[in-house]
Amino acid sequence: MIEQKLRPRRMRINENIRSMVRETSISVKDFVYPIFVVPGNNVREEISSMPGCYHLSVDKAVEIARTIHDLGIPAVEVFGLPEYKDEQGSSAWDMNSPVQRAISAIKKSVPELVIVGDVCLCQYTTHGHCGQLCGHYVDNDATLKLLQKVAVSQAQSGADIIAPSDMMDGRVAAIREALDEDGHSNVSIMSYAVKYASGYYGPFRDAADSAPQFGDRRAYQMDPANSREAMKEVELDLAEGADIIMVKPALAYLDIVRQVRDTINHPVAVYNVSGEYAMVKAAAAKGWIDEKRIVLESLTSMKRAGADIIITYHAIDAAGWLHEK
Ligand code: PBG
Ligand code: ZN
Repeated sequence: MIEQKLRPRRMRINENIRSMVRETSISVKDFVYPIFVVPGNNVREEISSMPGCYHLSVDKAVEIARTIHDLGIPAVEVFGLPEYKDEQGSSAWDMNSPVQRAISAIKKSVPELVIVGDVCLCQYTTHGHCGQLCGHYVDNDATLKLLQKVAVSQAQSGADIIAPSDMMDGRVAAIREALDEDGHSNVSIMSYAVKYASGYYGPFRDAADSAPQFGDRRAYQMDPANSREAMKEVELDLAEGADIIMVKPALAYLDIVRQVRDTINHPVAVYNVSGEYAMVKAAAAKGWIDEKRIVLESLTSMKRAGADIIITYHAIDAAGWLHEK
């Protein structure tokens, strides 16, 4: 009788064997690249908490959009800093705001690139909350009417996908109805269905000047301790007509990504957020980690957890690394 030894290492013996048995791969086609557009012309200013990311005026945003497209990245997500803020956040649906102008300029010069519009009010309100206030409480149903206007203005500008990130109840149904009524039945909705009240959004709030002026977002964003509640949010958003379900942030919530992927038949997106990005950039700048290796490993983990779409500030660098392989 020959003694049998079980040796999984045989499947790791060289790169060709490893590549034959590799279970997960990432591609530039998985990525969405977020950009921040600002008023003005010829502006390209690095965001201090997010090295390698820039505040871009519309003309510069168009240049980046072309770069993204040339790299094979299929989509851009547009965030914006407005020219003015008020109590309601009315610059969020102003057709002359940087976001609306950037969406239409990108659509015109790079028509194949998919444009995702982030729909929220916190960048546009003086108080920095994601909806209309009633005292210190964000009024859910009053906010829905404003979100409808934002979504329609972005669709009219040329957005292909509307991505509501406010966490109001019923916003997917409200936005779907408003889009359809305005003739945008082919514009899809990528819902930030599972968005946690996370410390990982810090650098974004600096970049987007969207930190709440009092309190925090825990009365509308989700408690990081909850997973069953995540499934409830997903179920509701699908019933309301969401086309894509997003989980956010990514790395601390990969168990949620897996649970969502195993439960639904819609595409799942994950948002590799600003704090996750900033930590990698800071440690890499110190020489403490190998940036390329860490980024590709992290992006692979998101895919392995079940994400079909990865929204990431690393998209341009990662695309370069994937092309050089
Ligand atoms: C706005 C919004 C936020 C992010 C995306 N849309 C911040 C927040 O909810 O405070 C975070 C993105 C990131 O951190 O990269 N609602
Ligand atoms: Zn918001």
